[in-house]
Amino acid sequence: MRVCVIGTGYVGLVTGACLAHIGHHVICVDNNEEKVKLMKAGHSPIYEPGLSEIMQSASSAGKLEFTSDLAAGVAHGEILFIAVGTPALPNGESDTRYVEAVARGIGEHLDNSYKVIVNKSTVPIGSGDWVRMIVLDGVLERQKSLVGAGGVALDEKVAEIAADFDVVSNPEFLREGSAIYDTFNPDRIVLGSNSKRAIAMMQELYTPILERQYAEDKSLSPIPVVVTDINSAEMVKYAANAFLATKISFINEIANICDRVGADVTQVGQGIGLDSRIGSKFLQAGIGWGGSCFPKDVSALIHTADDYGYETHLLKAAVNVNQRQRLIVVEKLQQVLKILKGKTVGLLGLTFKPDTDDMRDAPALNIIEHLNRLGAKVKAYDPIASQSGIRHGLGGVMVETDPERLADGCDALVLVTEWQQFRHLDYQKMATLMTNPVMIDGRNFLDRKELESAGFRYVGIGR
Ligand code: UDX
Repeated sequence: MRVCVIGTGYVGLVTGACLAHIGHHVICVDNNEEKVKLMKAGHSPIYEPGLSEIMQSASSAGKLEFTSDLAAGVAHGEILFIAVGTPALPNGESDTRYVEAVARGIGEHLDNSYKVIVNKSTVPIGSGDWVRMIVLDGVLERQKSLVGAGGVALDEKVAEIAADFDVVSNPEFLREGSAIYDTFNPDRIVLGSNSKRAIAMMQELYTPILERQYAEDKSLSPIPVVVTDINSAEMVKYAANAFLATKISFINEIANICDRVGADVTQVGQGIGLDSRIGSKFLQAGIGWGGSCFPKDVSALIHTADDYGYETHLLKAAVNVNQRQRLIVVEKLQQVLKILKGKTVGLLGLTFKPDTDDMRDAPALNIIEHLNRLGAKVKAYDPIASQSGIRHGLGGVMVETDPERLADGCDALVLVTEWQQFRHLDYQKMATLMTNPVMIDGRNFLDRKELESAGFRYVGIGR
């Protein structure tokens, strides 16, 4: 099928590349010329395992193209994905101006052929109808300009008839660092629309994925499709992220109680996770959730509820627990080192989770700020951030180029991000380089015995 993906941020680029990989002809549109040039040359502007390889093979097979020309993209696609950002405004509301600009642009370039317009961006609930309206606005604008150029005058009704399209909400559930895997092995695909024709085209688009042709385990039964109305599909995305974020805040709260009563939250997590009603995933206690999705989506849902006169007690509590949890490592440092003024603290990891270069709303940012405020000197080593630089600027921290330089002269280390390589560092050597070999394991990731035999005093979260 012919697909156009507008916006080559995280979601757009992964979606475009994966759809091209399974055989569709995809044109990705972005208004950033520099980025388009980079992608045309086969480079991915984001760090995501496996993405560059897929981009290169799909491009050389002629299945994946990049352009800054929206008109060309719209003309090409039978299915048009809107995948531009919806960043959070300071009050927690989502900023939908990019979605609006794209929807209007699509309207201005629509021809007479039927198109499915897919909302892939995480938009406020109710945006499906709004997108439809903006697209029609765009169509009308174009008609008006044609009138100016001697064309035929059309009223709103005629614009609606002339523009043959349906809107579908198709939320994504990709995790950074495993986005390609998640695209080919989804737990479900959610399609929200009142148009049978549009749903049928979306099912056809995803057939190779639904049939698990690209899945890790091809023998499993086909992937379920959940067909809903547009509002419910939009709500699924928020509800899923809010649930997972709340689950993490829940286990973190349990961890804090474990700390006080002398229980081990990793064992408790295992004990409750085996209950199939609970499930073992997202029960890792630590310094909490960050990144581009959970914080933004939970705030947006709280805000939407507020708009409708409903106060979300549970979701607000999940956010509060998470904010406090980030600074638990500072509390633990104070318990061990007492005064932090003049001490040197080394952070192992900076990104909000491993296998990404993303620093958006990373717990490290709050930890650095708080340590600085207490007068501690902060150093850090991160496998990605230390090499390729950090996407979102960092202050108040000296970034080291390797873990041993990080350890040198530190009064304590704090494991912030559970990068796999941190399991196999030479902790014995690092302990000898430190003024005071203390390890605060903010992700309960390291082996206590191993660290202790390397000479560390080990402190975990809730264990
Ligand atoms: C998340 C959702 O998983 C994904 O479905 C959605 O599309 C986007 O948001 P992502 O932000 O990439 O994906 O990361 P994820 O792996 O879900 O982790 C989110 C945060 O929760 C990270 O900061 C992680 O460290 C934290 N986390 C996760 C925990 O603290 N404990 C856990 O048990 C799991």
